[in-house]
Amino acid sequence: MRHAVQVELIKTLLAHLDAGTNVDAGGLRLNETATYTDPAQADREWDEWFVGLPQLLGMSGDLPENGSFLTNNEFGIPILATRDQSGNFRAFVNACRHRGAIVESEARGTKRRFTCPFHSWSYDPGGALVGLPKPEHFGEVDKECLGLRELAAEERHGLLFVHPDPGGEIDLDWLLGDWFNDEFSTWGFDKLERLTADEYETACNWKLAMDTFGETYHFTSLHANTLANNFHGNVQCYDEDGHLHRMILCKKAIDEMRRLPETEWDITVAGLPVYWLFPNVILMPFEVGVFLVRVIPDRNDPGRHVSKIDFYLHRDKLDQAAADMGVADLTEMAANIATNFSEIIRDEDYVMSSSQQTSANGAALDQIVFGSNEPALHHYHNTYRRMLGLEVSPLIDSIKA
Ligand code: FES
Ligand SMILES: [Fe+2]
Repeated sequence: MRHAVQVELIKTLLAHLDAGTNVDAGGLRLNETATYTDPAQADREWDEWFVGLPQLLGMSGDLPENGSFLTNNEFGIPILATRDQSGNFRAFVNACRHRGAIVESEARGTKRRFTCPFHSWSYDPGGALVGLPKPEHFGEVDKECLGLRELAAEERHGLLFVHPDPGGEIDLDWLLGDWFNDEFSTWGFDKLERLTADEYETACNWKLAMDTFGETYHFTSLHANTLANNFHGNVQCYDEDGHLHRMILCKKAIDEMRRLPETEWDITVAGLPVYWLFPNVILMPFEVGVFLVRVIPDRNDPGRHVSKIDFYLHRDKLDQAAADMGVADLTEMAANIATNFSEIIRDEDYVMSSSQQTSANGAALDQIVFGSNEPALHHYHNTYRRMLGLEVSPLIDSIKA
């Protein structure tokens, strides 16, 4: 993030703190609870956003060297993503061109050859069919015609996008917009190293999981003994542009900025940036790394989803922090912080999300309310509704009898 922007955001947070104010959406909005339960809407979301749009599979650090690969089965088609022999990011349907068996079953690793376990046809990291046993028995095939089926893939700003539809095209100029394309270019996401990963299934709609990241009103209540130790609740910055938005949460360490000249202000010390990538990804850069949260709907149940929470490390920044502290290595501490963070989401936020899903399933409440201090919830639910051609929820001044 450019330093001038960091300074403006920190000034906004300090002004809110000093005045006892918060970001203000300008009113309230009602949200239909059916959005969390309706199977027809879930089908449309799946088709239009999870199969119909490129998906973020990870970060450049997931494929650190030529021959590195990862597999993904989240979007209805088995995907094999690789860094090929030339260092390019590639993605393929992970299905053998002989009779369709899954070629690579490991989650990630590094290989020069991907060999199908059925009859041992083998492919290189560029997807080319490079060998098949007994070709003189099998019959004449031109290997050129039977490489792995390629999917559109693009690596930009250290982010790995794949389109799960074999006919799909990737438009990151639209998906990231001018704003995120500019701002992401400043974070060094391409230098990150994968450190920890967590994954859990929760009995709530994927949008309820996203909702927990959309405000800090709950910090002093739900996270009274955890995040509230380091964050001010109910103080944040919020900006939006089309389908994009970014929140800045306020850390208690922001007070350090009051003692420093503006030239030394650092948004990752004063706050936690939270970027929302439509429709299901949250990126949170902090001092020595990035949290990446991806929420994946359950294809067969609108009331369930899987969250994948990965932590990526800026090794050079961690080493510098260790040197500043006079210790040899902070890797274990960073891993513990990451694990602790994902446990808070699982044990605090998603417990609430499940309880919200229970009440939504019972259809006892037609609508719930988003407050003026929860602008991100207004924005992304209306973004979802707009994208589906549904009527957006209007801003209202108050709720009265
Ligand atoms: S299905 Fe893969 S080698 Fe036969
Ligand atoms: Fe939370």
